[in-house]
Amino acid sequence: MTTPLANDRFLRALFREPVDRTPIWIMRQAGRYLPEYRATRSKAGSFLDLCQTPELACEVTLQPLRRFPLDAAILFSDILTVPDAMGLGLYFESGEGPGFREPVRSLSAIERLPIPDPEQELRYVMDAVRLIRRELDGSVPLIGFSGSPWTLATYMVEGAGSRDFPETKRLLYGEPQAMHALLQKVSTAVTAYLNAQIRAGAQAVMIFDTWGGSLTPRLYREFSLAYMQRIVAELDRERDDRRVPVVLFTKGGGAWLEWQADAGADALGLDWTIEIGEAAARVGDRVALQGNLDPAVLYASDQVVRTEARRVLDGFGRSTGHVFNLGHGIHPGIDPDRVATLVETVHAYPVS
Ligand code: CP3
Repeated sequence: MTTPLANDRFLRALFREPVDRTPIWIMRQAGRYLPEYRATRSKAGSFLDLCQTPELACEVTLQPLRRFPLDAAILFSDILTVPDAMGLGLYFESGEGPGFREPVRSLSAIERLPIPDPEQELRYVMDAVRLIRRELDGSVPLIGFSGSPWTLATYMVEGAGSRDFPETKRLLYGEPQAMHALLQKVSTAVTAYLNAQIRAGAQAVMIFDTWGGSLTPRLYREFSLAYMQRIVAELDRERDDRRVPVVLFTKGGGAWLEWQADAGADALGLDWTIEIGEAAARVGDRVALQGNLDPAVLYASDQVVRTEARRVLDGFGRSTGHVFNLGHGIHPGIDPDRVATLVETVHAYPVS
């Protein structure tokens, strides 16, 4: 039996059904801007220990919901757990971004990559999903997620975060078939991973294509969007008589919204470089939209936070089909009080 959700306005907005308020959640809502997150992380020892200990991952997932009346929880994990489970050896140096001990740069290395079984190598993620669902107890829906194949491939080939993606682009332009082989393999792994999250209890899923915007329009369609489209088509979208909505988010992808709207997802994430009203006009009634406040607005005063949040709400200009969010993750230096003001402003806004 499915317990009904006490608050389902996030799912309703993704399906463009009527809502009483615009739902809001915040990318990286469990993160370093919260002192309680920093405390749990230091208790865990490291960020990876935090991800790999289901009780602690559950604890930090719930922390922002205790402070703010957010309309969704998001699984606390990272997109790089999948390549880690494929044997690349993920590490985080303190003060730096992520890295892989075994980057993948040749067709033979790509062919040797295993496809992880999500209930084995990624069991800690599935255990966290099951635990979080139990603790949420039907209060708000739980979002599961993965990186897009292209975004995961940039980390797998570079072996670290990058600005220009030299090795990835060398492979892309020099050996496109090898890049396709890598993306196919990662897509198979991501599909199994997201389906396992849905089986474990994720009630919506989001695909983060953080680096899709580094591609040309033609290469975005061929090397990023096509693989996200394939994953969306292969997801088990029905669970306990409910449809599981999918959100695609390509950072820097505002020029390609019409293509994204035809990929089979229920909603598109928007960064802050596009007017949400223009985006809504371009996608029409094909998809809902999630976004798109500049995360840096939260450095300003409560007054500015209210004005800028209302600008996004006014800009959207329709009564449903909008999930309020930032255009990217919240910065570590933000005062949590600004987030309280943001959530309050969005919930006070009349939707019709
Ligand atoms: O939104 C949430 O609250 C869920 C948690 C979440 C994390 N990472 C936790 C995290 C999600 C959805 C991600 C996704 C993720 N991870 C993406 C795609 C979204 C995006 O931000 O573009 C990417 C590209 C990554 C890879 C990654 N993980 C990087 C580049 C870094 C280092 C940069 C940074 O912010 O420190 C991480 C680490 C990371 N993932 C942290 C958190 C809370 C910070 C770790 C810490 O020091 O505590």
